[in-house]
Order: sequence, then structure tokens, then C-alpha cells
Amino acid sequence: MKKYKVAIVGATGAVGREMLRCVFQFNFPFESIKLLASARSAGKEVEFEGHTFVVEELTENSFEGIDVAFWSAGGSISEKYMPYAVKAGCVNIDNTSHFRMDPDVPLVVPEVNAYALKDHHGIIANPNCTTIIMASALNRINEEFDIERIIVSTYQAVSGAGVAGMEELYRQSQEILDGKDPVAKTLPCASDKKHFPIAFNCIPQVDKFDLDNSFTKEEMKMVNETKKIFNKDIKVNATCVRVPVLRGHSESVYIETKKPIDINRVFELLSDSHGVHLYDDIENQVYPMATEFIGDEMVHVGRVRKDLDNENALSLWVVSDQLMKGAAYNSVDIGNKMIELGLL
Ligand code: A2P
Repeated sequence: MKKYKVAIVGATGAVGREMLRCVFQFNFPFESIKLLASARSAGKEVEFEGHTFVVEELTENSFEGIDVAFWSAGGSISEKYMPYAVKAGCVNIDNTSHFRMDPDVPLVVPEVNAYALKDHHGIIANPNCTTIIMASALNRINEEFDIERIIVSTYQAVSGAGVAGMEELYRQSQEILDGKDPVAKTLPCASDKKHFPIAFNCIPQVDKFDLDNSFTKEEMKMVNETKKIFNKDIKVNATCVRVPVLRGHSESVYIETKKPIDINRVFELLSDSHGVHLYDDIENQVYPMATEFIGDEMVHVGRVRKDLDNENALSLWVVSDQLMKGAAYNSVDIGNKMIELGLL
């Protein structure tokens, strides 16, 4: 089997670290791995599975001889450096939002739309974490019942805001327990005007607002990316909320379908969906919760129930470690799928 020269861009970040783990755990066939980050991290050593990697500074010349790069260093970094990687012949799997809605860039959740990979021109986008998790959970239901509309509320962990988000939750929790006022520096959005405490709190803002329509950018990612992944005009209304969970996103999802819901068939489909684990034992209070699945690549679905008033509607509760299925695992899975399809 061919082995690939791999680079991870943003390797010292919350997602980048998981990308390295996923390359090993999910047997991406590598010959070498180059870890890239900012000049601040250059020279740092990362020990993993008996290997010592030395982090290098990302530059325009980092991609000579690299076959595949996994990116998660922020949209502006992808925008600036990825054209050099494409020019060097490297295939790029990008976890940032920068290229996601570009019509020339496939936006892929492998179990939903792997067919789109064949149209790539050196860049494949990994969707937004909340969107991947929802799309994976809904894929088989959509195939059979034809989803027309989704209303979703998210309960998103602080790790979605990177290492700084996690640090903020730890620090503020300690400040409050010590009887001090919590200091907010990062959330809801580092680049926005105001910051609010996340410890013992919920913040109804993930990313900045689009002042034209009153939704946040995170919410609009769910709206637009869902349509692109499913390749159809599903109506989506999203409310994204940051909650004081360290890692793992949860979503309350309500769907309306063209065909009437057969709930027993929905249970069958969910128990047979690739990458989905169904929990259907409410009598024994069995349902998925975020803290149970840290480091796990599956999408966990529970609380599945038909709407009381609408034959064509259904609610479900979806949980996944967004650093894994929502980011690092999905990216590496795209790479493995491309090899399987002979595209790499
Ligand atoms: P560094 O650790 O050197 O700052 P997170 O979202 O978890 O904070 O991670 C962001 C990742 O993106 C980190 O690996 C970070 O590296 C990297 N990064 C940030 N700015 C740059 C840059 N200018 N060039 C390369 N990598 C960057």
C-alpha cells in the first residue's frame, strides 16, 4: 500500500492535536508527518506513540514533497498559505470555514456525500462541527423520509473555541469557586466587542452576528452547509449556544419530512447508520451525554420521538465529540475515503 508524506497545519491547537492522534488511530498510511504551527511553536517537541516530532514554522515553502495536508489553523491561514500547498501538488483537507462554500471545493461528510470528492481541485473542505454531527445523524432518515426542514438548537462545548476556550472555562470556574469575579477574555467570540463568563452560564452566541439577518455566522454555517452537503434545499433554522461543557457538542434537532414518519423504521435506520450509535432505552434513562464520549469518533443519537401533532415530524438528541467527528476524525476519514476511492 502506498504511504503518504503528511503535514498537519495548526498541529499545536485543539483540533491539530486530535488530527495527529486520528492519523495513528485510524491507520492513515503515512511515510512521514510534518507538524506545522506559528513561529511561537517552532522547535517545540511533540511526543506521540514513540515518535518525537519537532514543530516547524508554517511558511510558503512548507509543502514541497508533501502529499496530503490536514489544516486547522484558522481561515486566514488557510486563505494565505493553501494556494502554495496546492501549487506544490499537495492535496489539502481543510477544517476551517474559508473554502467551504466555494463551488469548486467539495464539502464532505464521507458517509453522506463521498461522491463529491472526485470533483476536487486540491482542496476538500471539512464542514462545520455542528453541521457534520447533524448531517451524519440525519443521513439515513433523509434518504428514506426526505427531510424538508430542520429546526436545531445546539449546546456547544468551549473546546469549539480552541485551547483558549477550554482555558477560560477552567480558569473562570476556579475564580468563581474562590469567590472572585470571573474574568472573560475569549467567549463568546475572541474578536467581538464584548466578552461574557461561560463558567456556570450559557451564552446564546457562537461566532459573530450577521447584522443583516440577526443569525450568527455559526448558525448560518448550519443553514448553508447543510444544503451543500445534502445537495438539496433543506430549510434550516439554527440557534447556537455555548455551554460550560469542556468538550462534546449536543444538539436538539427537530425535522419535518415529506413522507410521514414510521418511527419503527427510523429506529431501524439509525441502528444501521454508519458512524451512528443509537440509544433507545428511555425506560432505563439511557440517552447520550457529552462527557461520556471524549475522544470518541461516533455520533450518538437518543431521545428519538415522533411529533405529537405532526405525522411528518420527529425530534432527536444528537451528541458527539466535536473535536473528533466534528473536526479531526472527519478530516482523516476524508483522507482514508479518498485512498479507498483511488483519489489519492
Ligand atoms: P500556535 O500554537 O503556534 O499559536 P486553537 O484553535 O486550538 O487555538 O489552535 C490554533 C492553531 O493554529 C495552533 O496550532 C496555532 O499555532 C496555529 N496558528 C495560529 N496562528 C498561526 C500562524 N500565523 N501560522 C501558523 N499556525 C498558526
